[in-house]
Amino acid sequence: MTNLYDEAYQKSLKDPEGFWGKAAEDCHWYKKWDKVLDDSNKPFYRWFVGGEINTCYNALDFHVDNGRGDQPALIYDSPVTNTIKKYTYRQLRDEVAKFAGVLAGQGVIKGDRVIIYMPMIPEAAIAMLACARIGAVHSVVFGGFASKELATRIQDAKPKVMVSASCGIEVQRVIKYKPLLDEAINISSHKPEKCIIFQRPMETASLIEGRDLDWNAAMADAKPVDCIPLAATDPLYILYTSGTTGQPKGVVRDNGGHVVALKWTMKNIYDVDAGDVYWAASDVGWVVGHSYIVYGPLFKGCTTILFEGKPVGTPDAGVFWRVISEHGVKSLFTAPTAFRAIKRDDPKGELIKKYDLSNFKILFLAGERSDPDTIKWSEDNLKVPVIDHWWQTETGWAICANCMGLHRFPVKYGSPTKAVPGWNVQVVDPDCKQIGPGEIGALVVKLPLPPGALPTLYQNDARYKESYLDEFPGYYKTADAGYIDEEGYVYVMSRTDDIINVAGHRLSTGAMEEVLSDHPDVAECAVLGVEDKLKGQVPVGFLVLKAGVSKSHDDIVKEVVQMVRDRIGPVAAFKTATVVKRLPKTRSGKILRGTIQKIADNQEYKVPATIDDPSILAEMEEALKSIGLAGARK
Ligand code: COA
Ligand code: AMP
Repeated sequence: MTNLYDEAYQKSLKDPEGFWGKAAEDCHWYKKWDKVLDDSNKPFYRWFVGGEINTCYNALDFHVDNGRGDQPALIYDSPVTNTIKKYTYRQLRDEVAKFAGVLAGQGVIKGDRVIIYMPMIPEAAIAMLACARIGAVHSVVFGGFASKELATRIQDAKPKVMVSASCGIEVQRVIKYKPLLDEAINISSHKPEKCIIFQRPMETASLIEGRDLDWNAAMADAKPVDCIPLAATDPLYILYTSGTTGQPKGVVRDNGGHVVALKWTMKNIYDVDAGDVYWAASDVGWVVGHSYIVYGPLFKGCTTILFEGKPVGTPDAGVFWRVISEHGVKSLFTAPTAFRAIKRDDPKGELIKKYDLSNFKILFLAGERSDPDTIKWSEDNLKVPVIDHWWQTETGWAICANCMGLHRFPVKYGSPTKAVPGWNVQVVDPDCKQIGPGEIGALVVKLPLPPGALPTLYQNDARYKESYLDEFPGYYKTADAGYIDEEGYVYVMSRTDDIINVAGHRLSTGAMEEVLSDHPDVAECAVLGVEDKLKGQVPVGFLVLKAGVSKSHDDIVKEVVQMVRDRIGPVAAFKTATVVKRLPKTRSGKILRGTIQKIADNQEYKVPATIDDPSILAEMEEALKSIGLAGARK
């Protein structure tokens, strides 16, 4: 017997143009598309070619023009500043139109890039939407990245203007953003013409005459500007994400496909309607923040929550329940790590009982593998369905999920359920041959990818092809490994590259190795992600020193830890490293990362047949024990 999910899934693969053409009718277009899917330039596919649309119009003006002007569009809830501020659709539209006027006043026009480096304040969303309004391409950089990471993005995106704030607030610490911004601009060879700075009451940044503008002063003089029609294929944003080197990948999102796909997901995956309150507890610096704090819920006419706080410590592990009950949240989306933190501080869920969660219907988890313990704890304590779903910065929305608005499948722990309509997910071997149910291989998606997924990397079609399309011709490589069972449930097991997942944040061990190699005493190094109860994985560094180094190992370790913090940022959570005499390698010189990782995680391992010198493994085990890993953890 078929159900709505099966029907939708089959239709989306057999007739993608019919399927997405119908979904697109739910959006506002200035001019209808000539073709739903243009496949004339394979492997580059384009959606809604010839169509004209504006993302900001679909997010805000559309709702004001259709009777939702007085409904809350965005609720800013900030336990770290004791603030709750609500914007109706009309108020948010007006603020955005004015800030679009500020940008236009600085000469920003369609196609110009604007980098947004901001904490979780409404002005971050306002800046994003204002860019969308005038066709400028925003690139939001997560606040936990250090100046050098920001500089790399400035260098690549070449923004005309940057938008930032005087500071962000971490649990017990004010982070001054302005010095980080100034340093990044110093390092970068590209210099933005203007920086617009939002001054927060807890920290006033000094402004550079002629370059920096005060947000409030600029807004006071600004004239609101209207949305402009853009080609559906024009870029909406660039979001940089970790690649295998220190050079991040600039994932591009277009306007048309993105509006269509995200609006479709709100009902079909998340089962929310216009008027419902939807909360993605993430950060606007990540793809989850783009798709589900800002764009998706606003396209749908929901009320979105922008939360400046942490799951624990702001002030306690009950803050999620307070927000849900206070604002009537129907659906929460966060990373499993947030729930592990809550579970750690409130194992019996006592704080949950203090709040009325009667409006709360579904918890969605993504960003890393959802461990069965966390899912079960959440189910038992919240008494709502807990839905794991799998996606990536590149895809922009879920590849696999239990599509709650279509059909609710029984949950299988460890699986994000089935491929979502639009995603033809398969498992292949290294020769690109499809492999049978239950067998582990590379998880790939048959081209074309659905609307909303990345059309390319910013100004780098070659890297897009090389990173995602060349290895398995005709498919998109997710770089995740896993399997599909007899019933079509997908299991995502691990990355096939050197990306690690730390507290739901995607990081490159290759980028960290580049930093460690720069230490004058380090001859060779490796960084691996090892299991961590709270964060899922944390990076650990192994250092082989140059001959004749007399400095103490402790000092060298402290220095490399500080270097990663300064160059990549605190978000890397790089706190542990150890000096080893040598690294285990194959006879051809490849570091045996998989084996070291297994030793560190206390898993059984085979001595690889290709190993150069098996005695190194015992040395590694000792080194790992000395930093509390391997057998030492038991
Ligand atoms: N600006 C500046 N610094 C930041 C930052 C920001 N926006 N976000 C994080 N940091 C810093 C933290 O202060 C911390 O610094 P520290 O080493 O001095 O303590 C470091 O970066 C690591 O941060 P984080 O990974 O957030 O760890 P944490 O120990 O502060 O908190 C959790 C742990 C689990 C509570 C937290 O990671 C969390 O809430 N995760 C939710 C997951 C999430 O939002 N994922 C996004 C994808 S859905
Ligand atoms: P990001 O681009 O930061 O969203 O990270 C994407 C990566 O996180 C994926 O390629 C996976 O490795 C991992 N990931 C995200 N969601 C899940 C999930 N539900 N299950 C397993 N891994 C996940």
